[in-house]
Amino acid sequence: MGRLAVVSDLHVDINQLVTEDLEKLAQILQDNNVSRIHFAGDTANKIEPALAVFDFFQRYGWPTTFNWGNHEMADLTEATIETFDDQRFLNFRTAPLSKDLVLLGVNGWYDYGYSTILDQKKIRRMKNLYWYDRMIQRSASDPDINQGLLQQLHSCLTKLTQQEKEVILVTHFVPRREFIVYQTNPAYERWNELNAFLGSEAVGDLIDHFPNVRQVIFGHTHRRFTDKSINGVQYSCRPFGYFYEWQMTRRFMQEYQLTEVLNPLKFRGIIHRNRPLFDEYKEKHLPEEFQQAITYIEY
Ligand SMILES: [Fe+2]
Ligand SMILES: [Fe+2]
Repeated sequence: MGRLAVVSDLHVDINQLVTEDLEKLAQILQDNNVSRIHFAGDTANKIEPALAVFDFFQRYGWPTTFNWGNHEMADLTEATIETFDDQRFLNFRTAPLSKDLVLLGVNGWYDYGYSTILDQKKIRRMKNLYWYDRMIQRSASDPDINQGLLQQLHSCLTKLTQQEKEVILVTHFVPRREFIVYQTNPAYERWNELNAFLGSEAVGDLIDHFPNVRQVIFGHTHRRFTDKSINGVQYSCRPFGYFYEWQMTRRFMQEYQLTEVLNPLKFRGIIHRNRPLFDEYKEKHLPEEFQQAITYIEY
């Protein structure tokens, strides 16, 4: 028997996480008797610090695997996004968990289907204006890239079915519309349009055809959800996210009465002006935040 921990969206560079912070995460994983770890993307903006994180956890003796998120992709080429040369990189590759169960990692991508607008030209324009992924160089259009990945996923799952393997699937992007939030306030309509870049529900539809998929874990949303069971598959989404989005940061703002309105977009500036106070608070409360952002899978 073992226990896999999945962590996504650690964003070590944006969150300025240092060794002492990662040690706190390692302590939690030890306390929870974890036997292996998978990082489901957005570990860092650059490959080097991301690999340093994987090395760090591996030094504790945990077999450590990973897939990329969109943030690492800006530091990669099309070839290294899909086939990075590292034993621990799982993209359409599996790691055995037990005799009948495998961990399958897939980066994933998006097809604009979650957006409230249909005009692809307009969506591409929005991407170039507002979205981090404008820095990623890909070899085809986003819907075409996604289509190719779907075919690969189909053949991968077909093969695993023939081998009579059950599957724990880990990916970065959102495979189910149930995890997409649509704002009702017209002031936030832009966010509904930007849902274009969150994932592809065709992935969830494909998974429906493979009863051997037991659980799907993903991140990218920077919003944590309680697990949902959809068509017999358990879906888990609890990314760590940016420091100004953490639950801890919300409590910090309230406890020190630093703002009247709890608007995460304003938190960055407030933290900047109260850095020593925030760092002290973070030192104490980071473990709770980590705890909420780990998915455990027994195998
Ligand atoms: Fe992220
Ligand atoms: Fe992401």
